[in-house]
Amino acid sequence: MTTAVPKAPRLTGDDAVRIASQHFGLEVSASFLPSERDQNFRLRTNSGAQFVLKIANAAETAEFLELQNQLIRFLAGRKIELEFPSLVPTRAGADIASVTAADSRKHYVRLLTWLDGVCLGEIKTHHPKLLASLGRGLAQMDATLAGFSHPAADRSFHWDLRQAGAARDLIRLLPDDRRSLVEGFFAEWEQIDWSRLRSSIIHNDANDYNILVRGATAAAQSVSAILDYGDVVHSATVCNLAVALAYVMLDKPDPIGAAAQVIAAYHEIFPLNEAEIDSLYTLACTRLCLSVCLAARQTRDAPDNEYLNISNAPAWSLLEKLCDIAGDWPLRVFRFAAGMPVVKHGPALHRTGTELVAARRKHLGPSLSLSYQVPLHIVGGSRQYLFDAGGRRYLDCVNNVAHVGHSNPYVVRAAAEQMAILNTNTRYLHDGLTEYSERLTAMLPDRLRVVYLVNSGSEANELALRLARAHTNRTDAVVVDCAYHGNTVATIDLSPYKFDGPGGRGPASWVHKVSLPDVYRGRYRGPDAATHYVRELYQAMESAERNGGIAAFFCESAVSCGGQIMLPPAYLRDAYAAVRNAGGVCVADEVQTGFGRAGTHFWMFETQDAVPDIVTLGKPIGNGHPLGAVVTTPEIAHSFANGMEYFNTFGGNPVSCAVGLAVLDVIRDEELQLNALETGAHLKAGLNQLKRSHRLVGDVRGEGLFIGIELIRNSETREPAGPEAARLVEQMKERGLLLSTDGPFHNVIKIKPPLVFSKKDAEFLVATLDSVLQVTIHDD
Ligand SMILES: Cc1ncc(COP(=O)(O)O)c(C=O)c1O
Repeated sequence: MTTAVPKAPRLTGDDAVRIASQHFGLEVSASFLPSERDQNFRLRTNSGAQFVLKIANAAETAEFLELQNQLIRFLAGRKIELEFPSLVPTRAGADIASVTAADSRKHYVRLLTWLDGVCLGEIKTHHPKLLASLGRGLAQMDATLAGFSHPAADRSFHWDLRQAGAARDLIRLLPDDRRSLVEGFFAEWEQIDWSRLRSSIIHNDANDYNILVRGATAAAQSVSAILDYGDVVHSATVCNLAVALAYVMLDKPDPIGAAAQVIAAYHEIFPLNEAEIDSLYTLACTRLCLSVCLAARQTRDAPDNEYLNISNAPAWSLLEKLCDIAGDWPLRVFRFAAGMPVVKHGPALHRTGTELVAARRKHLGPSLSLSYQVPLHIVGGSRQYLFDAGGRRYLDCVNNVAHVGHSNPYVVRAAAEQMAILNTNTRYLHDGLTEYSERLTAMLPDRLRVVYLVNSGSEANELALRLARAHTNRTDAVVVDCAYHGNTVATIDLSPYKFDGPGGRGPASWVHKVSLPDVYRGRYRGPDAATHYVRELYQAMESAERNGGIAAFFCESAVSCGGQIMLPPAYLRDAYAAVRNAGGVCVADEVQTGFGRAGTHFWMFETQDAVPDIVTLGKPIGNGHPLGAVVTTPEIAHSFANGMEYFNTFGGNPVSCAVGLAVLDVIRDEELQLNALETGAHLKAGLNQLKRSHRLVGDVRGEGLFIGIELIRNSETREPAGPEAARLVEQMKERGLLLSTDGPFHNVIKIKPPLVFSKKDAEFLVATLDSVLQVTIHDD
């Protein structure tokens, strides 16, 4: 294998100044820029204009430079978020000039406009948004280049990952103790089935010093340009992303996670196929191996050329780190990033849907329900998608349990690793339990400092009732109409949704109901609605007085089963004041609404300017693992400690704590609360658009990614359109989107997807609703 490095130009700064003047008519000062095979100078004119003078390697053909020029023009003419330099013509009007160096070698010369920005490699911490912008930029570039061709791109090139086998010979130049490490990665590379990867012309060198970033603050930074087209080659398209990932992973505490953020954004714009996703990690590692191998050769051939050694030390330390990563972890994370089934499993022998329904009838209680007229047989989940037994993918718009995504690999790993080490109960000291309690309370208002871990939302509300009763020495509770708080004896009694519904036995003597504070359909709708609804609370508490007074007021911070009801502003604040005044305890049921879903706040009660005495948590807290929590004040906890031990076999076990911690980590690291805010706003804007064009849509409401669409038949009477809502949900399912209905008239479409839901998902949801709504109306 030969190297082009010895043919690198050796021009001086004075040469560059002279070339600029002679060929481009510019009076400039010049400074060196690093390059492996070429020579680049940064030029400045007196007036401040800046350029890059590119002196090509003597081995470079004019045809290849023409390819680069055409490619730059092609990309610059397309709608891509990235900036591209302009080609500055010579005085003779050409794109390329030819100069002869002092050593009498001929070099082609081009002049490009300078692009401002900081190199990605110079930025210490890479914000998730910055990584996502890199993914988007690369995807747009690759998608665009799929329509570009040039014969000069079909070349033999040592940086082409498809041709990486040639560099394998160089392993012998590496230090003895590192050869097997690199050989291991090459062995993986050998397994790649290139026929399953799409091919196109690619940039092939999105290294961290070729990526320019703009933006002053970390959160505002985004990739503005990907420079240097000298490594362009026709290869597997996915190699372009793999090259970028190799550099993105450098110096990262979680290299795989950082790479996954780029992949997720890339995939959303220019979807990768399964084979491409599965080859990405190997290809990225191969790029690192190429880098260390080619650097070793360069040190042998041209020891004074520093270029390749720039990333050599970090590349080695990354390769060593990656060697310690167990099994198929990168594959799982990358597959999750692309919303593909995280674990590959062969064709399973499933029972048919009909057989499963029959078996359910035989062995499961008939009070269990199934969604949809033809029930779904779901066998897998990844991110915001569910997969049925036939392999069909559904966009999950309603499952708020899979908060950080179905089968999130970080949560799965936390559970599996802890399960393999220990799972006991809270009667032993355990770091996980205390750490989780500290992390959870740190997310809550100061006064909520004491945690009880349980196994479900029902259990959390059941315990909240016991705490309130112990603290007040009273029995009664006030609840809002249509509320649901759980499936135990006491929580069914707290749930008008159940006790007033089919099979319900009406309110228990200790339960008092107030109207659902619904400003769209409820009793009070105007600007003073909150005052009226709170007044009802006083009446309910008065009747509780006859039983010794109110122990607890239970209220969801936005009422989900009641129909995605957003409480009128400050309802909870004023209701809590009234309840406390009467000696009662305020319980915020955040089972549906907590953990960043509200977007503006981490807890929905914060949107109400209210602080509860007890908060109950469930569903998203464990991302599907059975976990719940009650958090309260030290005073209430003290009242509960009356001598009777509180023991919960599974509540607070080390596995649950590991899961809870992993969920909090992912919400923080992936900025999912911010995503709920931004994607939620985007979605609501789209839905409001639908409201304007479809009579059936009476109301669109919600905060963040907790949204309801109320369907009505008549805008005057607001007659609920329950059957239409049911039909719409069925038709959406046929189109691959999962939703459900709720509310007392079953006419409210519930939207509360995993928080990894993207703007593109939101647009798909709105567009599909739009077409289904037209059909649904016509069916009337
Ligand atoms: C608001 C609310 N609270 C409590 C519960 C009960 O939670 P779990 O089903 O985990 O017992 C639910 C369940 O749907 C709920 O929506």
